[in-house]
Amino acid sequence: MPKFLVLYASTHGQTEKIASRVGDVLGREGAEVVTEKADGDVETDPAGVDAVVVGASVHAGHHQRDVVDWAKAHAATLNGMPAAFFSVSLSAAEDTDESRQDNRKYLDDFAERTGWTPAETAVIAGALQYREYDFMTRLLMRLLMKHQHHPTDTSQDHEYTDWDQVEGFARRCADLPTIASRP
Ligand SMILES: Cc1cc2nc3c(=O)[nH]c(=O)nc-3n(C[C@H](O)[C@H](O)[C@H](O)COP(=O)(O)O)c2cc1C
Repeated sequence: MPKFLVLYASTHGQTEKIASRVGDVLGREGAEVVTEKADGDVETDPAGVDAVVVGASVHAGHHQRDVVDWAKAHAATLNGMPAAFFSVSLSAAEDTDESRQDNRKYLDDFAERTGWTPAETAVIAGALQYREYDFMTRLLMRLLMKHQHHPTDTSQDHEYTDWDQVEGFARRCADLPTIASRP
């Protein structure tokens, strides 16, 4: 039974929900799973597990610093083991050349900042969590979303996550240790 670490950062909760689903699928596929939120404190060393799935969301063009710092500190280990990364954003909910370029840019930025090039990646649509935002963030996001023709009803959250995509990604992650052990 391979041991997986699912390490994530989540500012408003959506990446946490996705990381939890990834952990559930890995468990169903027969893995032992440790799920951990990156918060700058002592976090699990990837050298102690068989495979790693890392997740973070994009805020103002970048992923959370706690995950970037952790991946940078462990880049040598991560580059040599079965390891995957998923990026959660609103641009992943769009189907335009511009959004595809943004998604690529977010992944490249993460690889450049950390020195880790994950074997498996996914860009996953997040959510508009108006009810989680503070006053200023809600105002700013509403303005931005109006401009981009997204929902502006701040009395409710709007989820874009494709859960079938999340499950498919998690199943591919479950196969990573097997693929890595092939001669
Ligand atoms: C202040 C703020 C800034 C954001 N900046 C971006 C951005 O630059 N690009 C993008 O695609 N999504 C952006 N988003 C959308 C988030 O990535 C999305 O809401 C995601 O679901 C948040 O995940 P979390 O709840 O795990 O933090 C932003 C959201 C907020 C609230």
